[in-house]
Amino acid sequence: MGYLKLRNEPAPRSAGYRRSQVGRLGRIGLCAAAVALVSGCRLDMHLQPKYLPYEPTTFFADGRSERPPVPGTIARGQLRLDELYFTGKENGAEADEFPFPVTRRDLERGRERYNIFCSPCHDYTGRAQGFIVQRGFPLPASYHIQRLREAPVGHFFAVITNGFGAMYSYADRIDPADRWRISAYIRVLQLSRTATLGDVPEAERGKLSQQSPTEGAVRSR
Ligand code: HEC
Repeated sequence: MGYLKLRNEPAPRSAGYRRSQVGRLGRIGLCAAAVALVSGCRLDMHLQPKYLPYEPTTFFADGRSERPPVPGTIARGQLRLDELYFTGKENGAEADEFPFPVTRRDLERGRERYNIFCSPCHDYTGRAQGFIVQRGFPLPASYHIQRLREAPVGHFFAVITNGFGAMYSYADRIDPADRWRISAYIRVLQLSRTATLGDVPEAERGKLSQQSPTEGAVRSR
């Protein structure tokens, strides 16, 4: 290992150190060591026993050097045992319950996500008058038709997860928890259309009559 010896040599100490003192042989040795070092490394990396990607082999019966994962292998974080949480279904049928209790914070998060991802087509109220639709995208059903009012909440989750007809899947952009929150918020939108004064807690009713007529008009649009 010529280069090791070389590194152990004392470094030149002062400016007075004259190159001529380094013998011709010494300089040749230095070059040889450098060449040996560089080419040695390179050869070592090139000659190691390995398969390049997609390189065939005779070692395995199927001729592939790349081996498939052992059957049943699940990548870390990819375990999907909870059918309801990950598919919106129970025993294969769309479920009509949430996998976790929905709190006010969940609904607020659902509203935020809905407004970002869904309102461009379904609009802020769910009547499907979003700007993309106004510019020619196929018209989705309003959330307020009887069929969707009666649809189990797992249906909304499944539509977001898998897409539906012309609507593409949002599974890669919205994680399952947020898909449930959006589904819950769709229920809020639906309720907002059919709610009566009797649904408003008595303590809150006073606030409704305090609204100016214009404010009421804007809200109910
Ligand atoms: C780019 C426009 C677009 C966006 C954005 C969009 N959708 Fe849709 N959605 C559609 C269209 C179009 C349909 C109707 C598809 C069809 O019937 O072929 C639809 C249908 C639906 C339906 C009704 C399914 C049924 O049973 O009739 C639901 C529920 C729905 N979307 C929810 C959502 C949610 C939730 C989001 C946001 C995560 C979302 N959509 C984002 C275009 C969109």
